[in-house]
Amino acid sequence: MHFKILIVICVCVRFSADGIPLETSIEDLKNYFSPRVIGGENTLEGYAPHMVAILVGDEVIRLILCGGSLVKPNLVMTAAHCLTDFQIAGGLTNLFHAVVGSNNWNTGGIRVDFQNYHIHPEWDPVLIKNDIGFLCLTKKVELSKHLQLAVMNFDFVGEEASSVTGWGWVAQWALMPFHLQVLDVNTLSPEDCIERVREGSSIWWPNAPHVNSTIEICTLHSTGRGLCFGDSGSALMSKETGTQIGIASWAFTCARGVPDMYARISGFKDYIQSIMELY
Ligand SMILES: *[C@@H]1O[C@H](CO)[C@@H](O)[C@H](O)[C@H]1NC(C)=O
Repeated sequence: MHFKILIVICVCVRFSADGIPLETSIEDLKNYFSPRVIGGENTLEGYAPHMVAILVGDEVIRLILCGGSLVKPNLVMTAAHCLTDFQIAGGLTNLFHAVVGSNNWNTGGIRVDFQNYHIHPEWDPVLIKNDIGFLCLTKKVELSKHLQLAVMNFDFVGEEASSVTGWGWVAQWALMPFHLQVLDVNTLSPEDCIERVREGSSIWWPNAPHVNSTIEICTLHSTGRGLCFGDSGSALMSKETGTQIGIASWAFTCARGVPDMYARISGFKDYIQSIMELY
């Protein structure tokens, strides 16, 4: 769903060179969920070595769709909604691939291809729940200083200092960075999150999905700093333990001072372990 939005935006941007105003479409898009990091900063090379850039296209035109995290040398974890629209006859389009081992998705790193994928069996695209999936690589990658596995944290996390990295838009105007962005954020308690999302919904998005704290965790920095289009699937890491606690899922786009939502790793312990055991 997010990538559909992404592609529409890119078409609009191309039209804008011919003088067609963007306001209407951007205004519509503002009401959609979907993450990228706004208000973050460039990462140093080698920061977040678990990050995977999920791309679609060929050598000529490539788009970044989503982020992911390397959880096994041949397994990437991401958001379910990053995968669903690229299923063709039960497989994935072969324009779908990824770059690992670089903070710049357009240069350096290693290109990897996929041979299989998993989408959570209870993925709910309407309520945006169980937004978790996996991509299996055609071969194992060699780990290095710039390429490491994300370690899962299956404990329930309350309020904690954390950080999120992503290649999503860095401004409302479809500005997509090549360089990985990082933003330090705080996770909220379930009560605080639900209350703030309720307040945000009344202003920005009356039909926003409800928050289920068993399977979702949210973060908040401030207005102007948060997730935007293209950040979906990216890893939320605990600063205390350096472990992954969330997968970017949905947001009040972009960076409106309302919490950003992630699939909560501890809510999917059995599912994550069952997939990881396969590889
Ligand atoms: C929250 O998610 C859990 C796990 O899927 C589920 O058992 C529970 O019913 C959900 N709660 C609500 C209010 O949807």
